[in-house]
Amino acid sequence: MAMSVDRGVNGRLKRLPELDLESYHDFLTGFRAWLFRDLGGATRARADALAARETAGGGNLSFARARDLFGGDPMIAVSHRIWVSSQLMAHHSLLDGFRRHGDDVDAWFAAAEASDCGSIALDPNLVIPDYARHEIHIQPGGYVGEPLAGHVYHYGTNSFYLGLNDQDQVYLERAKVIARPEDGRLDRIVDLGCGIGQYPIALKEAFPDAEVWGIEVGAPLVRYTHARAVQLGVPIHVAQRLAERTGFDDASFDVVTAHILFHEVNDQAAHDIVREAWRILRPGGVFDITEFDMDRSFTPYEEYAAWADHFYNGEPWEGDFYNRPFLDWIRQAGFELTIADAPMTRGGLKKYIARKPMQDRLDGRTSKGHCGASRKLRLSRKRRARQSGRHDDRIVRAGLDAQAPHACGRKPAGGEGPRLGGGDRGVRAVGGG
Ligand SMILES: C[S@@+](CC[C@H](N)C(=O)[O-])C[C@H]1O[C@@H](n2cnc3c(N)ncnc32)[C@H](O)[C@@H]1O
Repeated sequence: MAMSVDRGVNGRLKRLPELDLESYHDFLTGFRAWLFRDLGGATRARADALAARETAGGGNLSFARARDLFGGDPMIAVSHRIWVSSQLMAHHSLLDGFRRHGDDVDAWFAAAEASDCGSIALDPNLVIPDYARHEIHIQPGGYVGEPLAGHVYHYGTNSFYLGLNDQDQVYLERAKVIARPEDGRLDRIVDLGCGIGQYPIALKEAFPDAEVWGIEVGAPLVRYTHARAVQLGVPIHVAQRLAERTGFDDASFDVVTAHILFHEVNDQAAHDIVREAWRILRPGGVFDITEFDMDRSFTPYEEYAAWADHFYNGEPWEGDFYNRPFLDWIRQAGFELTIADAPMTRGGLKKYIARKPMQDRLDGRTSKGHCGASRKLRLSRKRRARQSGRHDDRIVRAGLDAQAPHACGRKPAGGEGPRLGGGDRGVRAVGGG
């Protein structure tokens, strides 16, 4: 164990405990920016040219062929391999670094938990669903199985955001523009799946008079969220609970938010979380969801890249996410839905704004199909068409089904996959509690 060190803060960010580690991450951030912008752009251009050549005589590029074509191209394979390696470098260096300073970490958590700034509630008896036990983003131990998950997530995503979110900029901007109830009342907000708490903290700063909650399945992330809120002097309430079973009273919130949560849960959970948000929102309340664009169309290379992200970068539910009739579920729950671009993104993220009508409009409804509707998943026509095989050559379906994301660690059928230079990397489940 290294000597206790407090290297102070850089604005809102607690500095890493060693100068070497900080320098290493500074390098990684710049390296990933180059990877993402320069090498990524060149890779995409090359892949698009390969796809155009392949289809010059007419016809479509099937996913199986696209996987061979792109996975077998040395430049594309190297580009993907470097991305995965840089992710591993970020995670493992952070884990090792913070482990060397375990006493400091414990002291930071303990001091926060002894403070009276906001509140924290851990639930050692919470049964962690299997779908949440994966090593998402190949983060060692995932969100639930590694006590340092919050530290690894925070500093790991700093380089993932290419250094543009180290002062929580993205969250501070997005919090300012959350959708508000039409009557303007905004007394209680809860953020579902709050991770390391950047969103609920920013929401409390944007709406200081509101009572703000963050709930999260992973205990290490709950502790991190709370400690960080105390460090910043922002009194929020954090609890280890499931987004689909929050335990809050009916109609007790004005706004519910979920920021990039839904692509990381399975279909049943996504469906149930929508129902839960409806239940805990008061009439006139808003469910403000920020997520990847569910209706985007993919070029062959983008489909391949989504598959590679799923398979090599630990995104077990990405395929389900793009194929589920999520917008139908929102409407079936009773919400009125509008879709807008999310701020601070170049079109990649959308805001799905789901409004629960005011009481007079709810009273006027005659349909039984809303809140009390069956809890069974309803499939849209689009989804049924895909399931009947019409879209079987879409990568995000064919590629993911082939390797059964629910079966952790399995290789795709036939062992085929892009050749990234190392062993195949399926998603792995972890313990935790
Ligand atoms: C991609 S992270 C996003 C975290 C945070 N909202 C943000 O924007 O930084 C998704 C988070 O949702 C949490 N999560 C997944 N399923 C959950 C569930 N059923 N209930 C509560 N949290 C959940 C994960 O542990 C993870 O922290």
